[in-house]
Amino acid sequence: MNIILLGPPGAGKGTQAARLVERYGMRQLSTGDMLRAAIQAETPTGLKVKAIMDAGELVSDEIVSALISDELVALPQTVGLIFDGYPRTEAQARQLDAILAKHHRKVDGVIELAVDEDALVERITGRFTCAHCGAGYHDEFKLPASTDPMRCDHCGSADFKRRPDDNEETVRTRMAEYRAKTAPILPFYEARGLVARVDGMAPIDEVTEEIEQLLANT
Ligand code: AP5
Ligand code: MG
Repeated sequence: MNIILLGPPGAGKGTQAARLVERYGMRQLSTGDMLRAAIQAETPTGLKVKAIMDAGELVSDEIVSALISDELVALPQTVGLIFDGYPRTEAQARQLDAILAKHHRKVDGVIELAVDEDALVERITGRFTCAHCGAGYHDEFKLPASTDPMRCDHCGSADFKRRPDDNEETVRTRMAEYRAKTAPILPFYEARGLVARVDGMAPIDEVTEEIEQLLANT
């Protein structure tokens, strides 16, 4: 099964994708994570996209679709896919159809995480991750069990990091990009009857339960 998690910055796409990976052995394909890895490794793509991402604007359709296309080559067809943060424009949605068709796959469902944008700024500015294993945390909603000293629940590392684009000004730009370019792709999938809406403001566990119920019926 191949599903898309759609929602504005901070909606919980990464949080929920990680849980689906754990529960169902699906593969998370996050273009944001791929781009951040490219920046870290200082690849030509990374050098090209750094300023764009720091400003909260969208990277070109060609770059992100090429990343997705490359990832799919090595993935066995039995592994279900979770698209996190891709597609983000109608052009990307069409490119995804073409990429999946090459691998005899298709989009089976789109889960829209519906959220209140004002609450998202707080979610994003409080977010941090384990620098070692990438596990996600939040200053208020999801601290590690061990806080003094703070250690990652998953790997025990005491090294944590924050994203450079997780400041209020950039978050506002990212949200404006979502409203202008990404939300308008919903009708593209609604016309195929693929979109289900989940309340992304509910507690994390409840959102997961709702998504799992949807997947069971897909
Ligand atoms: P990307 O990395 O995709 O970022 P984003 O879409 O802005 O989304 P986030 O990762 O910020 O939020 P999320 O929904 O994953 O939330 P999370 O689960 O972490 O993209 C970054 C940049 O890369 C873009 O701005 C663009 O420049 C570029 N880019 C990437 N893909 C692209 C594409 N396809 N095309 C063009 N450019 C692209 O949750 C947030 C926090 O809230 C966490 O701390 C979490 O613990 C907490 N939380 C989650 N759910 C809940 C809940 N239900 N209740 C309370 N707290 C919660
Ligand atoms: Mg994310």
